[in-house]
This record gives sequence, structure tokens and C-alpha cells, in this order.
Amino acid sequence: MSRKTNGGLFDGLPGEDQPQPLAEGAAHLRGFASAATDGLIAALRRVAEVASFRHMVTPGGYRMSVAMTNCGPVGWVSDPSGYRYDASDPETGQPWPPMPAEFLDLARQAAAAAGFEKFEPDCCLVNRYEPGAKLSLHQDKDERDFAAPIVSVSLGLPAVFLWGGLKRSDRPRRIRLENGDVVVWGGPSRLVYHGIAPLADGEHPATGRCRVNLTFRKAR
Ligand code: SIN
Ligand code: FE2
Repeated sequence: MSRKTNGGLFDGLPGEDQPQPLAEGAAHLRGFASAATDGLIAALRRVAEVASFRHMVTPGGYRMSVAMTNCGPVGWVSDPSGYRYDASDPETGQPWPPMPAEFLDLARQAAAAAGFEKFEPDCCLVNRYEPGAKLSLHQDKDERDFAAPIVSVSLGLPAVFLWGGLKRSDRPRRIRLENGDVVVWGGPSRLVYHGIAPLADGEHPATGRCRVNLTFRKAR
């Protein structure tokens, strides 16, 4: 990526369009997916026709407020027996829909922009937040190894991303994520606690009354 300058006075400071470091191995890429959002949303509609959004149940017996689906060779699943990656959709018994080319291209480019070359995700977990939905602080740790980063793409309504530390008790920063933003975390940040604060109500031209998040992982 070329480094934009701001005409002298602020040269040397990261511009709005430059990766904003969150911690070592983690960056907020503002607007990185902006030009791709229409294509991503169209591809997502095709995914959701095959594997519909559903509210999974946690091992503790709670119905998640976030609705989820997956695409790619494996999908993340939660039910009363635990969390796992599964090659088939438990609702249909069929394989998850393939990962659309637009998804894969964007995930690879974003990973590379954050310093992670050769990212080969085998899962895209799709989260849909309606007003009030949230995701409590958690680590992404159901993957077989933590060498690959997590790439997270925000679509639709803005959200407050909670970016904590390696301990659950670390007080999280609150980062506003907008349509087209991407966050990448890997390396020393791979197991950082993160979450989403309850979604504020609103209407977005791209998605309507919700936010959608695509998280790309290498699970196996
Ligand atoms: C996640 O942690 O799986 C999703 C984060 C987000 O919705 O931005
Ligand atoms: Fe997560």
C-alpha cells in the first residue's frame, strides 16, 4: 500500500486510510472493504439462502442474541454439547456453502495489509446483530492452531468493538466499527479477548436494521 501524505504538517502520522495498530499483531483497517461491500452482501445473500441464519445455543443453555451462519469447508457451531467446527450444517446435514470468491479475496488482501501473508481461511463465520444484540468478551480459541490471524469485516450498522487484552479482566478499549471496516488480529494478539457491545438501533442502506460481521479463520 502506498503511504498517503497530508501535505506537510501531519506527514509521518498514520492517515485515516492507514492501518491503525491496536496492539502488536493487530490492526484496524478503516474502510478497507468499502469498495467491496455491495459484492460481499450480494454473495452473503446467496450463502444465507442455503444455510440460513439461526440463533445457536451456548453450552450453558443460553440462546445467543447474535444470529449466525457459515460458509467454507467448515463452520463454527455451538450447541449444549459445546463449541466445535463442523463440515456440515447441523440444521440440514449438508455441507456449508462454499466460500464465495469475493470473501476469500478480501480476507487474503486484508490479512496481507496487516502483515499476514498467505492467509488460507477455511471458515467464514457470519454474525448478524439486530438492535440490542451483543457478543460478550471471548477469545477465538476453537481453532486447531493459532498461527493464522482472524480477519473480521464489518457491514451495515456501526458497532462498538470491545478490544481487551490477554486476560479476561483486562479492561477493553471501545472502538467504533463502521460499514467496510476490517480488523485483523494474530501473532501476539491472536488470543486477545474481544466482543461487541449491544448494537444501537438504526437503519443502514446496505443491510437495513442490522449489522453483519464476517470473521475468517483457519480452523483446521
Ligand atoms: C466475533 O468475535 O466473532 C465477531 C466480532 C464482530 O462481530 O465484530
Ligand atoms: Fe470472536
